Amino acid sequence: MSDKKVTLTLQGEAPVELDVLHGTLGQDVVDVRTLGAQGLFTYDPGFTSTASCESQITYIDGDEGILLHRGFPIDQLATHSNYLEVCYILLNGEAPTQAQFDDFCTTVTRHTMIHEQITRLFHGFRRDSHPMAVLCGVTGALAAFYHDSLDVNIERHREIAAFRLLSKMPTVAAMCYKYSIGQPFVYPRNDLSYAGNFLNMMFSTPCEEYVVNPVLERAMDRILILHADHEQNASTSTVRTAGSSGANPFACIAAGIASLWGPAHGGANEACLRMLEEISTVEHIPEFVRRAKDKNDSFRLMGFGHRVYKNYDPRATVMRETCHEVLNELGMKDDLLEVAMELEHIALNDPYFIERKLYPNVDFYSGIILKAMGIPSSMFTVIFAMARTVGWIAHWKEMHDDGIKIARPRQLYTGYEAREFSSQLKE
Ligand code: SDX
Repeated sequence: MSDKKVTLTLQGEAPVELDVLHGTLGQDVVDVRTLGAQGLFTYDPGFTSTASCESQITYIDGDEGILLHRGFPIDQLATHSNYLEVCYILLNGEAPTQAQFDDFCTTVTRHTMIHEQITRLFHGFRRDSHPMAVLCGVTGALAAFYHDSLDVNIERHREIAAFRLLSKMPTVAAMCYKYSIGQPFVYPRNDLSYAGNFLNMMFSTPCEEYVVNPVLERAMDRILILHADHEQNASTSTVRTAGSSGANPFACIAAGIASLWGPAHGGANEACLRMLEEISTVEHIPEFVRRAKDKNDSFRLMGFGHRVYKNYDPRATVMRETCHEVLNELGMKDDLLEVAMELEHIALNDPYFIERKLYPNVDFYSGIILKAMGIPSSMFTVIFAMARTVGWIAHWKEMHDDGIKIARPRQLYTGYEAREFSSQLKE
């Protein structure tokens, strides 16, 4: 949709007119698709000012701290919905009727088992491998087991692959944990909820009955909702780029997992807990805040700042409430929560953070909750990947539905001009 234009005038050149497109919400965009033909590229490392696609899945207003999934505010979904209903909404665009939801849940539940041969794949990894390395490897390997959903040009194949990924990610994620601690894998159970089934596969053993704590089950379900999707973040953009060549969906999700692992992205929850443990007491906070502001120190406050949010990350607000609920339910007092709340207070009143609009993000509190639930920090990003799988699939599906065009950015070349080659190696 465009009724406005911008004119680009280069010295000595004819002016170039570009359409300005506007969506339902958010910034207008300058349509630069014709620029290449006129010998010009745009330059935007990190894509701070670039819209890579059109999408109807998630909207973020970074200044107002707004996050909508298909128009539904994240705080309403986190409070009144459940993860599988949010998955349905992200994938289908509307809230399901009870019958549609029951059907969706049955399909997801009935695909949670993985091919038995895949269990042997785990034994190719060292026990002390980082679970994200194992998750990335095993997810990519799923492409070798499901040949009946390989043709991404067939919508039914795409739908089957989507359900398999949504259903099997908790099973593979829990297996990554069990393998790392030398305990036997636990098969999924169809009588449990999505979150309850994951907790059971994580913590139950053959030796005694494991009863899912409903408060922890609800907290895990809420954590999954809060991490489900987030517009064109680095890992989602990676999935879109990988998928734009027509690549296998399992391989595309493995690429998303690899990107999410970075400490600047999904790895921040694990890094944030390590940071809080390193700070350890409220008295040490000023020294770490000083280091975070020191340009000569690479230290950053993990769990703070965001490329888009220049206000509170609405997910962090819900996460903080959940943190208190879980600790109260478990009768736990976690000194790290005290450090986190004091760090939040100090940072939010420090001019350096205020000027740069640095607020706590989704990763700031999640680590404290997951730790309180008995989950090791090495599994935090695995849980983030499990939750974000539905977002990655929704964007991958939308890209195919809209007609894929291979992602192939250009560059600003500052290397050598053409020159003669003569080898310096001995004949
Ligand atoms: C996620 O994109 C998404 O939507 C991601 C995500 C999702 O759901 O998919 O929301 C999940 O990845 C959340 C972000 C988790 N990462 C962290 O918590 C790591 C710590 N945060 C920083 O690394 C940083 O804030 C980023 C990477 C999140 C954002 O970086 P930007 O947008 O490139 O901003 P920047 O690095 O250019 O920072 C702007 C200024 C700089 O100072 P100046 O050069 O202007 O003086 O703010 C400073 C930075 O030095 N700064 C920080 C800081 N984050 C930015 N200073 C101290 N501590 C920080 N955390």
